[in-house]
Amino acid sequence: MGLDMELEAVLRAPEVYQAPYPSKVITLANGKKMVVREVSREDVPMLLEGVRPTLMIDRDYYDIVGARLYAELLGWYRYRVRNEYCIIGQIDGILVGIVNGRMMNADIGISLHTLAIDRGLRVGAHLFAAKMEHHIEYLGQKEVWITAESPIGFRRWMIEYGLEKQTDVQHELGGATSYRLSRELYFASKPRLVVGDRPVPKEYLDVAMQEIIVADEETITEKISGVTGR
Ligand SMILES: CC(C)(COP(=O)(O)OP(=O)(O)OC[C@H]1O[C@@H](n2cnc3c(N)ncnc32)[C@H](O)[C@@H]1OP(=O)(O)O)[C@@H](O)C(=O)NCCC(=O)NCCS
Repeated sequence: MGLDMELEAVLRAPEVYQAPYPSKVITLANGKKMVVREVSREDVPMLLEGVRPTLMIDRDYYDIVGARLYAELLGWYRYRVRNEYCIIGQIDGILVGIVNGRMMNADIGISLHTLAIDRGLRVGAHLFAAKMEHHIEYLGQKEVWITAESPIGFRRWMIEYGLEKQTDVQHELGGATSYRLSRELYFASKPRLVVGDRPVPKEYLDVAMQEIIVADEETITEKISGVTGR
């Protein structure tokens, strides 16, 4: 597809420089090491492969979260979203979870989505914590706005962090009820919820950086659905 670059420049969402998220490694409850790292726009096509199987899974609201995440990642890839970033979790190079968000402005961060492909290990909880860490500690923001699309998400974010309900704003995810994580609440929750070691040992980082391996559709569907969740 030939691009009319003059028109394209008009269509592209403006962006500001965003500090990078430094990679870390988390030892999960089963002893496996999950590398948590920021990915770049060029990685999006591979990530979409991992999200696509979730579009048809209604269990635990994977479909709505998957569909929105898919659109957000594609929007970032096509330069149609402002100031987005994406952080992933990998075990032995395999994609096990994705989180994304964006800077609405210098002070306010928007938490977009959290998707765990491997379940029962708090992969999603750890990645959400990494996202909060990124907004507050690396992007240097004053607060993050968060909403929940599923009961598990509500338990993980609103309850576990004790987020503050906002009555005066709508979240940009369709105007849903928005909750706030302030810097104070983040640092109060950090010892309990934000884990991981830096730097990532070379042998783990090399494997993660070499390739984002996406499991096949059947495996992803089974990992998400073939379990006793609620
Ligand atoms: C919300 C989400 C990111 C949380 O991820 P997570 O922290 O890794 O948690 P899991 O999904 O693995 O587990 C959630 C619960 O189901 C149970 N569960 C699910 N799969 C399980 C499995 N294979 N083995 C054991 N327990 C399992 C867990 O016991 C856990 O219960 P707990 O809250 O008492 O710990 C993930 O559930 C997800 O991607 N859901 C769909 C998208 C979504 O809702 N995103 C958030 C939108 S606000």
